[in-house]
Amino acid sequence: MNSTGKLTSENENNYRPCRLSYDTLISNEELCTVGYNHAVITWVTPQQPADTTIYFGEQRAHLTRRTINDYTEFHWMELDNLKPATRYWYQVASNTGKGSLNSFITLPKPKGKYLFSYAVLSDIHIACGNPTKDFNEIYFGKLSEYSNDLFIQCILDSKRRNIDLAVITGDLTDDASRQQYLELRDLLLPYFGDTPYLLCIGNHDKYINNSSLGEKGFIELVANREKTTSTVMFNDYQFILIDSCKPNINKGYIDPGQLKWIQGMLKSNRKPAYLFLHHPCNGPDTWFGVKNHMEFQRIIRPFANVRGIFSGHIHRNKVTTNKFMTGNLPYVEAPATVQFPCGYGIVRVYENGFIYNSYKVSRLDLSEMSRDRFILKGGNALLSRYSFGGLGDRSFSWINGQLFYPRQYELTVTLDQQKAIELYKHTQSVDGASLTAAGNINKSKVILGRFDSLQLAFRSHWYKSLVYQMDVAIGKEDSGYIPRMRNKK
Ligand SMILES: [Fe+2]
Repeated sequence: MNSTGKLTSENENNYRPCRLSYDTLISNEELCTVGYNHAVITWVTPQQPADTTIYFGEQRAHLTRRTINDYTEFHWMELDNLKPATRYWYQVASNTGKGSLNSFITLPKPKGKYLFSYAVLSDIHIACGNPTKDFNEIYFGKLSEYSNDLFIQCILDSKRRNIDLAVITGDLTDDASRQQYLELRDLLLPYFGDTPYLLCIGNHDKYINNSSLGEKGFIELVANREKTTSTVMFNDYQFILIDSCKPNINKGYIDPGQLKWIQGMLKSNRKPAYLFLHHPCNGPDTWFGVKNHMEFQRIIRPFANVRGIFSGHIHRNKVTTNKFMTGNLPYVEAPATVQFPCGYGIVRVYENGFIYNSYKVSRLDLSEMSRDRFILKGGNALLSRYSFGGLGDRSFSWINGQLFYPRQYELTVTLDQQKAIELYKHTQSVDGASLTAAGNINKSKVILGRFDSLQLAFRSHWYKSLVYQMDVAIGKEDSGYIPRMRNKK
């Protein structure tokens, strides 16, 4: 494959004979989001503008076709009007290429009245042409020069999903300069229009050097309040904004005074509460999370009115629980707007629970640019697995204290790039497949199917191994840390 993703004529001579000639590659096909009534699937046809088509339905033998004739390399298909807790089959197609036949199960919907929804945005890193040039930018695809565009698009995208409120969990700025704070205040935050927003401070917002304002800039120019911490009542829910940052220190810490304050807020007001802070606060401090997370968890443990903890900082989708300390309480790490997958989360609140969904920004070109900029060996695949997370890190339902995660198992064959293209071409005359990067830079992964259950994956495994005469692997589409999953189906 050449850099355009097309087959070179020299290589074409080496291919196995095919009944038809195919030159549209379905790449990076991803089931990004699964809600109770909708799902989002994205894929790329590198340097091959093509239609965006999907076949989907409840019966694998009776699929309905939907096509968007926008002729693009970056394909986005949102399936709506789906039924809750129901299995759907789908297969994407563009021009002459077709992906594998996959399945997913929609999330269960909490019972009771729908109350309101809010967006969670994080790690915006407005740089104003003067980025900090940190590791994320040099090696891991942080798109500092597009930070404004990505933030604006995430605001507009989330507003289109009818949010009533937005919360930003820190790192609004790249290094807390006056110019960055002013640009946020005057040019960017106004895109929220009449949608109210709440701001948490991040470690980058507390940077202090000659030209940085640190938390003073945050308080005076963008947060419009007296302290970095705050609590706000919204629709009879408490939104508690915590400050987990210290000037010029990247690790998180919640000081004793603040822990007492959080305890006091939860004690004096037994209304349901969502907590927000910049640093993740579940598990060991391997990844620069909150150092004293155990103390924090001990404080919130007795309060059944806490519904969820939301953070950013790590620039990835991640959902964890701590069964021993806080039961099924979800700790949600929201994606960064500025780095792959470049997105945001939406929380839809009902009387008996809530649903969390993470979405990619609709500027898929930028999301893919960030993926491509990960420059370590095999990094493209590493980045996808790490910051995209598993399906259960992007979508779940919390209903009366129970968590419901969708599952996803994939059938793959990892081969040298040339061999992978050959297999892909072969699948096109059978039942379709997609291509994605593998952990080794010289190899590619052919995705032969994605399924919501291990049983379905095994059944298909038998068939695909027979048809393609290949060693087909079964794996989980995630980084391997999803908490035990439960689903009604
Ligand atoms: Fe950040």
